[in-house]
Amino acid sequence: MAYGRWKSLDQVERYARKRYSKLDQRLVDRREKALVRSLLQSYGITGDVLDLPVGYGRFQPLLREFGTVYAGDWGFFPAVYAHERLGTARLSVTCDAQFVPFGNNTMDLVFCFRLMQHMHVREERVRIYRELGRVSRRWVLVSVYLQSVFHTVHRTLFPQPSRITFLRRSEFETELAEAGLRLVALRSVLPGLHGHRIVLAQLS
Ligand SMILES: C[S@@+](CC[C@H](N)C(=O)[O-])C[C@H]1O[C@@H](n2cnc3c(N)ncnc32)[C@H](O)[C@@H]1O
Repeated sequence: MAYGRWKSLDQVERYARKRYSKLDQRLVDRREKALVRSLLQSYGITGDVLDLPVGYGRFQPLLREFGTVYAGDWGFFPAVYAHERLGTARLSVTCDAQFVPFGNNTMDLVFCFRLMQHMHVREERVRIYRELGRVSRRWVLVSVYLQSVFHTVHRTLFPQPSRITFLRRSEFETELAEAGLRLVALRSVLPGLHGHRIVLAQLS
């Protein structure tokens, strides 16, 4: 994953400037943020928020509007970046999402965006959902790639270098349920075109 290769804070900063600079990507970024904001507002979600994985902190300013933000990432520099350069995260930790170094029920929301499509092993996905649910008092917001005809055809015709896991909705909900979570709301980033979905779940 491109994000995993950062070797300094300056590299993270350069990537942050470039990643969503093209028009189509800017629109995706804007749409994702609008959907996240509207979900948090609609369900009145505020308080302590764990942003995991934080990446280059794309969602940090938005999440801070809703409460106190904590950051975690597998990468050392992404974790440090959110704390030192952005100054948004109250605390940043380096961790694997399968083993989160926060106690049970310590966050009001655990926010996990654009990670799950890179997890190709079912047991690892369930393990992550269980960890997110363990740390949360109630809410988990996660993004996943679900199967869509257009996206599948597009990737078959135009193979992409990255490997992405697309799940059927029923498979995804079963994994959530195994981890003790229940889907509350689901939004499509680009309805009919793209498999990326934003899902609000709560402890069941
Ligand atoms: C595509 S970025 C998403 C960042 C951010 N949530 C966003 O949407 O902009 C993926 C991030 O996941 C981190 N990552 C990859 N595997 C991880 C794991 N098992 N646990 C925690 N972080 C992981 C990478 O270091 C990278 O920063």
